[in-house]
Amino acid sequence: MIQFLLNRELRTEYALDPNVTVLNYLREHLGKSASKEGCASGDCGACTVVVGELVGERVRYRSLNSCLTFVSALHGKQLITVEDLKHQGQLHSVQQAMVDCHGSQCGFCTPGFVMSLFALQKNQTGFNKADTLEALAGNLCRCTGYRPIIDAAEQACCQQQPDQFDAFEAQTVAQLQAIIPRATAELGNADKRCLLPLTVADLADIYAANPDARLLAGGTDLALEVTQFHRELPVMIYVGHIEAMKRVEVTESSIEIGAATALSDCYQALAQNYPDFGELLQRFASLQIRNQGTLGGNIGNASPIGDTPPLLIALGAQIILRKGSTTRTLPIEEYFLDYKVTARQEAEFIEKVIVPRPRANQTFRAYKVSKRLDDDISAVCAAFNLLIEDGVVQSARVAFGGMAGIPKRAAACEAALHGSALTAELVEHACTALAEDFTPLSDFRASKEYRLFIAQNLLRKCFLELQTPDIETRVTAYV
Ligand code: FES
Ligand code: FES
Repeated sequence: MIQFLLNRELRTEYALDPNVTVLNYLREHLGKSASKEGCASGDCGACTVVVGELVGERVRYRSLNSCLTFVSALHGKQLITVEDLKHQGQLHSVQQAMVDCHGSQCGFCTPGFVMSLFALQKNQTGFNKADTLEALAGNLCRCTGYRPIIDAAEQACCQQQPDQFDAFEAQTVAQLQAIIPRATAELGNADKRCLLPLTVADLADIYAANPDARLLAGGTDLALEVTQFHRELPVMIYVGHIEAMKRVEVTESSIEIGAATALSDCYQALAQNYPDFGELLQRFASLQIRNQGTLGGNIGNASPIGDTPPLLIALGAQIILRKGSTTRTLPIEEYFLDYKVTARQEAEFIEKVIVPRPRANQTFRAYKVSKRLDDDISAVCAAFNLLIEDGVVQSARVAFGGMAGIPKRAAACEAALHGSALTAELVEHACTALAEDFTPLSDFRASKEYRLFIAQNLLRKCFLELQTPDIETRVTAYV
């Protein structure tokens, strides 16, 4: 049984199919059809809803793609859809702003934009264009054009007045406190179920008893199996309620990130220590996806084009794997064995990711090359971690995504760099060596020749940036 608030109405579901997404739940089970399905794959934002979660005595609101969120993830939370914004016959201020600024034509994208604007307004004081563009990067509109929608964001953020969600916040907090999960919950029917443990130990036990279960964290990849491939997932274990797996702890030597931590929540610690990691995270899919997708999920699904693994490999990160009560530590590059094949054993799961903090004389650069700046998948993702003392490369860790069936270190390139003075000649030598490291594939994102050429150019770009630290050469690379 799961419980959540639909706006302020308490809903209890006992026997729902856990393969149902929040979007299908709204549209097909409740007949609430205002939230739209454009792509069912997290690309268009038409399905955007806002989920409220208790943080202390307040409610934190975040935008999500309801097409990629299974309904079990709502347990203990508040779901707000575009149908909840109008109050006592009055449009909400973000809706009114869209009307005033002519932010809608055919209207198909509009419910999603309205909900992204609502989340922006709830998390913002005043108008900030960069934050607005970030908030809207996951919403596509093919007919209005974005200027009127950005105008609407400015109006909504500048003329912000307390709304009904502010007026009812104390009541909502009390309602959410009353449904805080206090034991492992289960949602399911005769042949499909989702278990929702609260502790790492319970997760380990449940996984040991159900080794064929699929682990569900953000679900932004797993849900595609249901929405795009029309498969059914008989058993899922949702890890989003395990607080110990959602912590970020920064110690003197490392950043320890629970595997179920949303990418949005990893941002601050990683960006503070490695600004290029922060830049990359801002281009990781969309805000809706980053609010939902987790660091452990991005590693665990072992995609060759996942954006965080090349960076984590270059940084020498380690993962803690757990099975039952036994844990083992693995350098992250040893996790990836072959295309979608990993070192994870049956009933073993990633509990934590440990990223070393920067050392003296360390330089870290990361680049993503994709066809669109936002909300796109990398053709090539590169990360360079160099320790340079007196102009000599004392150590080099270089890793790429999109260049092989797994995210992988460039061993020949690293060997070419190691122990020599960092000069243009050395970089050309390392670029030649890089061609020995990879035999990339051609696909619709890029040809194999282009991938190799870009990978070599990113090494040259890294070198040029190090030579001219005062010059802003760090423009984002995209095709
Ligand atoms: Fe396109 Fe959900 S329907 S992101
Ligand atoms: Fe038509 Fe945006 S108003 S897609």
